[in-house]
Amino acid sequence: MLTSMKNILEDSHKHYYGVMAMNCVNIEMARAAIMAASEENSPIIIQIGPKQMKLHGHKEEMYPLVKDLAERVHVPVALNLDHGTDYDVIADCINTGFTNVMFDGSSLPFEENLQKTEIICQLAHMAGCSVEAELGHVGMAVDDDDENFDLFTNPEQAKDFVERTGVDCLAVAIGTAHGDYPKGRVPKLDFERLALLKKTLDMPLVLHGGSGTGEENIKKAVSLGINKINVATDVCTVAKKAMLDEVEKNPKIDYVSMCIAAEKSMKEYVKYYINLIGSNNRFNFGDVEYHGHE
Ligand code: 13P
Repeated sequence: MLTSMKNILEDSHKHYYGVMAMNCVNIEMARAAIMAASEENSPIIIQIGPKQMKLHGHKEEMYPLVKDLAERVHVPVALNLDHGTDYDVIADCINTGFTNVMFDGSSLPFEENLQKTEIICQLAHMAGCSVEAELGHVGMAVDDDDENFDLFTNPEQAKDFVERTGVDCLAVAIGTAHGDYPKGRVPKLDFERLALLKKTLDMPLVLHGGSGTGEENIKKAVSLGINKINVATDVCTVAKKAMLDEVEKNPKIDYVSMCIAAEKSMKEYVKYYINLIGSNNRFNFGDVEYHGHE
């Protein structure tokens, strides 16, 4: 069922587990994520960024697809606009039926981020849609932003931000960054800051830049209160590798078989990730019928 991201994260906040938020731009990705979640009795969050929607995973096609897949499973599925910055795009996603929108004002001055987040919260909440915001800034791994302490989230500022905006969950900067890290580098997370943020805010927290973060870091971050983990790059790498492996095995392989291989490998990866962050077996209401690829 397509459900509120707020409800999903409230449970994970209460019981200290993480929920995977996977960026999806096509049927293979969305189906891999949702069917993996169904088989693991886990909630899942499907998300799309504005650039991804423009380039390939158009909202008009992705919304009915995700809604239909969500209706076939017994686990909660949320649909989130990732990194929304533009008011019109955010309003459009709310009107379409996304169950959460992220407003990313993390590059703006504090007060401007706060005021804009507050307006988005009022608009979204009226429509029954929850909101994620970001304070501090999770930048790009390629720019070494994970090592730039100036970008990290300040707990006292975050308390003020959350109280005045009414936001439902907060993305925090604690030492991760988007995209692939330079070869061999595993980011160092500021766990003390994370523990203080959780204690101060007592609300669902989001980790962006989940790819390449390393199992130990992810497990510890979840144990200290991260509830939503965004993963994009690693899933694309898994899918690409599966396709390339198939081509190497059989250069004459047809396109559909390549898509099936990619979907299968992504589904396995999501299942692995679900178990890593402990969202498996949270929803055990019996199974439903599904006519997709094994
Ligand atoms: P990665 O591509 O590093 O996994 O980051 C994804 C993300 O945070 C999307 O918002």
